[in-house]
Amino acid sequence: MTEVIDGNAVAADIRDGLTDAIERLADAGSRPGLATVLMSDDAASETYVSMKQRDCEEVGITSHHVEIPPDAPAAELFDTVADLNEEADVNGILVQMPVPDHVDKRRVLRAIDPAKDVDGFHPENVGRMVAGNARFKPCTPHGIQKLLERHEVATEGAEAVVVGRSDIVGKPMANLLIQKAPLGNATTTVCHSRTEDLAAHTREADILVAAAGVPEMIDGSMIKPGATVIDVGINRVDADTGKGYELIGDVEYESAAEQADAITPVPGGVGPMTRAMLLYNTVKAAGEQAG
Ligand code: GUN
Repeated sequence: MTEVIDGNAVAADIRDGLTDAIERLADAGSRPGLATVLMSDDAASETYVSMKQRDCEEVGITSHHVEIPPDAPAAELFDTVADLNEEADVNGILVQMPVPDHVDKRRVLRAIDPAKDVDGFHPENVGRMVAGNARFKPCTPHGIQKLLERHEVATEGAEAVVVGRSDIVGKPMANLLIQKAPLGNATTTVCHSRTEDLAAHTREADILVAAAGVPEMIDGSMIKPGATVIDVGINRVDADTGKGYELIGDVEYESAAEQADAITPVPGGVGPMTRAMLLYNTVKAAGEQAG
């Protein structure tokens, strides 16, 4: 039987594990705080940010939220980040991506105090992670590591294939998989839109991480029997549901599940883990800032 990897259950465990640390910090006068900054009208971004705020409330992290009109001058965003960097009760800062075209994204990432960069996207934190000395691991790859760990999927010596080379998922995921660390030591291949024969690579994977953002691009014929399949895709496709859309992964679930030993569903797989690891990073930031 194929094992369905339940991200909601593992995420709930992670949140439970954080509540003690949160209350200890709160008792010492340093309740953790996360600031979210949204400079977008995009419905998906609005939903993600409001879910992150709700997650904070549920575990006792104070959430601060700033909305900036997407047509405002870039300076408004930089001033906001500068203020949040100085705010003592804000331990973590997350600027929801993407930002509008007139805002220099790289400058935004550099503007956040690296000690408050709970996304792990600041170049200093990216460099530390690549060097094997991570301060904040990016939330999605970190969440995937936790899913693999909880489901006792060994990375040591495994053939891992990551499909997608984004800064947020593909690159850091591949980097964590190759590290000399308990959750690393995988022989790792990164595939992307210019890969000539994608299926030839994916069919070799003991661990396949699909993070290309293309709905159902990977089907069962591309999966090695017995593989662990991690589907990072959250693609909104028009559908006759109450919301007018349906969430579809990068993996064609039915045929993939026939081949795989274990697979994450969409929704309910990687998504909740990304959110849980943001809370984890915020608590870590608060602990470090409390000294
Ligand atoms: N947009 C899509 N994913 C993310 C994420 O993990 N962090 C931020 N800040 N923006 C995103």
